Amino acid sequence: MSEHDTHTTCQHAHDHEAGETGLRASRRDVIKGVVASGVAVSSTGYVVAGRSTEAAAQTAGAVERMVRLNVNGNDRTVDVLPQETLVQTLRYKLGLTGTKIGCDHSECGNCTVLVDGVATYSCTTLTQRVRGKKVVTIEGIAGPNGQLHKVQKAMMEELAPQCGFCTPGQIVTAVALLNQNAKPTEDEVMVALSGNLCRCGAYNHYLNAVMRASKEA
Ligand code: FES
Ligand code: FES
Repeated sequence: MSEHDTHTTCQHAHDHEAGETGLRASRRDVIKGVVASGVAVSSTGYVVAGRSTEAAAQTAGAVERMVRLNVNGNDRTVDVLPQETLVQTLRYKLGLTGTKIGCDHSECGNCTVLVDGVATYSCTTLTQRVRGKKVVTIEGIAGPNGQLHKVQKAMMEELAPQCGFCTPGQIVTAVALLNQNAKPTEDEVMVALSGNLCRCGAYNHYLNAVMRASKEA
């Protein structure tokens, strides 16, 4: 659970407690349990990440859990469980909640990030497998001064995001395509975006946005 999610949970708990005194005791107990478990999970990473390599090496198996990777241009070292997926690391250890979890089974594309420039489902990629690689999330798509990428601008101009849940994955996939093929045909864009499902059905808007972006200098 990220710090933001924890904060949101606490805020909701506070609001509910004010209006539902009859449920106060049991609900508070539940919230306390959730927050406590979230802190335990995230603090494990930070506490171990803060130790020196030498100290970590003194604990059998600890060194293997330390994964170095470059995320959005920054070198990061994270304590990663063997079965931990990249989206879990990004969202819950590094606080990059722009990458969404939809199906969690390689079906919807909501979790798409770039790994060494290739659009990748982070929900079924083990973080251990991206050791030393360059990962770019939706937070790293805009320029260094916050200027939007041409794909992001085109998506706004074409009114592509409806609820917006699939938008980060659509943008990352489109950026990967245009980096490889600056002037795709409509068919090529449709094939590239075919792994990104949109429950709002805004497929034509996303298609038009990528075609618009491809015409930008
Ligand atoms: S959440 Fe990864 S493909 Fe759906
Ligand atoms: S804009 Fe709502 S899921 Fe795509």
